[in-house]
Amino acid sequence: MWSPALFLALSTVVLPTSAAIVKDGSTCIVTPITNTPAAVAHRSIGTVHPAERDLIPKTDLDDSESELWTPGALGHYPRAEPGRSSSSSAVARRVSRHLGPEESPLSPRQNRPDDTPQILQAFSQCGKDGTIVFREGTYNIRQVMDTTDLRNVSIEIHGTFVWSADNLSYWRQKSFSVTYAGRQTAWRIGGRDITMRGFGKALFNGNGQTWIDLAKGQGNLDGRPISLTIWHGTNVFIDGITWRMAQFWHTFVAYSQNVTMTNLDMSTFSTSGQSSVNTDGTNTWNSRDITIANWTVKCGDDCIAVKGNSSNVHVSNVTCYESGAMTVGSIGSNSRQPDYVENVVFENITAIHSSNAAWIKTYPGTGYVRNITFRNIRFEDVNQPIYVTSCIYSYQNCDSSRLAISDVRWENITGTSRYNVAAGIHCSSAAPCDGFHFSGIDIKPKNGGNAKVLCSNIKNQASSGLQCTGSCPGSHPQQLSGNV
Ligand SMILES: *[C@@H]1O[C@H](CO)[C@@H](O)[C@H](O)[C@H]1NC(C)=O
Ligand SMILES: *[C@@H]1O[C@H](CO)[C@@H](O)[C@H](O)[C@H]1NC(C)=O
Ligand SMILES: *[C@@H]1O[C@H](CO)[C@@H](O)[C@H](O)[C@H]1NC(C)=O
Ligand SMILES: *[C@@H]1O[C@H](CO)[C@@H](O)[C@H](O)[C@H]1NC(C)=O
Ligand SMILES: *[C@@H]1O[C@H](CO)[C@@H](O)[C@H](O)[C@H]1NC(C)=O
Ligand SMILES: *[C@@H]1O[C@H](CO)[C@@H](O)[C@H](O)[C@H]1NC(C)=O
Ligand SMILES: *[C@@H]1O[C@H](CO)[C@@H](O)[C@H](O)[C@H]1NC(C)=O
Ligand SMILES: *[C@@H]1O[C@H](CO)[C@@H](O)[C@H](O)[C@H]1NC(C)=O
Ligand SMILES: *[C@@H]1O[C@H](CO)[C@@H](O)[C@H](O)[C@H]1NC(C)=O
Repeated sequence: MWSPALFLALSTVVLPTSAAIVKDGSTCIVTPITNTPAAVAHRSIGTVHPAERDLIPKTDLDDSESELWTPGALGHYPRAEPGRSSSSSAVARRVSRHLGPEESPLSPRQNRPDDTPQILQAFSQCGKDGTIVFREGTYNIRQVMDTTDLRNVSIEIHGTFVWSADNLSYWRQKSFSVTYAGRQTAWRIGGRDITMRGFGKALFNGNGQTWIDLAKGQGNLDGRPISLTIWHGTNVFIDGITWRMAQFWHTFVAYSQNVTMTNLDMSTFSTSGQSSVNTDGTNTWNSRDITIANWTVKCGDDCIAVKGNSSNVHVSNVTCYESGAMTVGSIGSNSRQPDYVENVVFENITAIHSSNAAWIKTYPGTGYVRNITFRNIRFEDVNQPIYVTSCIYSYQNCDSSRLAISDVRWENITGTSRYNVAAGIHCSSAAPCDGFHFSGIDIKPKNGGNAKVLCSNIKNQASSGLQCTGSCPGSHPQQLSGNV
């Protein structure tokens, strides 16, 4: 296991205060504290009941796997079996139960190992012109993380990060504000020239069911933290990470530019009676030049939501389950503060059993939404595939909104609607929608018959390419509960 050659190699480099980090030049290599040589040796002398030994996470200090933590090494695709995350955390709990306070090599809180200090230490030691490698195993994260001063760093994650859920009041009090709508986050990353790769092996487990059960269907429970926020980041690349049971939104991009997020897999849903509302895949806000591609998202709210002051956003090849699929909004909630969204493309999108597919939601506010393309959107069993509203949620003052929506294309939009409505579009009469173009729209109710297309206040409606079958009142809801 603990090969002499490897031991020699490691013993030649500086071992900082946390024994689990090895720093070699500008590279920090991090091992979960429950996998450190001391902890492993301790377990191997009989702390763990023999019957449970096979459940202990592999130490991976083993020669055969040493390439896994070579900086830049590619991990294995396909992805780790997601079920492993909960079993790994169960193992971590089981292991810690066996380590009594007086005998444990883990410190400071023996019964609740916390990898946060060493993770933050790795960021402070190697977060500028460096590489940080998280080796395989389970990292227990019991504290908020603010790593917003990064520069030219490569973060390589081969393990599972599990956010604690035994003290939700800690997270509710300490999570960082992200300004938007008073929301908070457990981890902010920011700075310049940042790559974070998970190789399809990194798994982020936010213990979301605990948060879902605490929130009891309340949309914005104060302090319920977003899993990962890109905060004041420039030139950020995130790839190959799997989320299971995020605390709240999986990701948020704020005050950032040139952010690429590819090959992400997210799944957060409730197994109790409570709804998983607000477990969005991502939201962008006050950010530009964003590329999102190759995502699979199962969540209880919007899949990809482009919010106020976002521009140049390209979203492609995303499959969404049970979600709000592709949306611009919500925006315009503060009537004194304008929100602008422009130059957005959503293409090659699949939505399965979702609330909406290609839609725009604004409050009766100010600002604009312009130059938006929804292209090649395919779906099955979507409540109301195309939807536009100027008064989301309240369905009040819809015709006083001055938030102009213009130059929007829906091209090649095909699939089945849950009820007999393909589109519900209500624009404000004070700022009618302009430059709407529809082509290749083929939406059929899943139970047969013809789908209605309801429209109000679209300029040049006759030449828009949409065959409206009736008007759409401001009160027309985002989600229907039956045929209309
Ligand atoms: C980025 O950091 C690496 C070390 O990880 C270094 O070799 C390289 O020169 C740095 N690039 C710049 C532009 O400073
Ligand atoms: C939970 O977190 C709060 C807020 O940080 C702290 O005051 C309290 O001591 C923690 N409780 C436990 C049991 O750790
Ligand atoms: C944008 O970020 C990527 C990393 O994702 C980087 O390679 C590229 O050079 C950046 N583009 C600009 C214009 O800086
Ligand atoms: C999307 O996934 C496919 C298949 O794995 C891969 O070939 C392609 O490079 C990915 N695209 C991006 C932008 O990562
Ligand atoms: C789309 O993304 C999925 C992963 O979500 C990937 O398996 C697939 O190969 C990608 N397709 C293309 C055409 O890139
Ligand atoms: C959006 O940008 C405009 C113009 O820069 C600014 O006035 C407004 O406060 C921003 N809105 C938000 C919600 O940040
Ligand atoms: C509209 O958005 C697309 C995609 O972002 C961009 O290429 C194009 O230049 C924009 N058009 C205008 C008129 O800004
Ligand atoms: C979207 O799909 C079309 C048709 O399959 C393909 O030609 C195009 O390259 C795809 N676009 C992106 C950005 O993957
Ligand atoms: C329409 O979109 C589907 C995917 O939903 C794609 O397979 C097809 O190639 C697209 N058709 C055209 C004409 O681009």
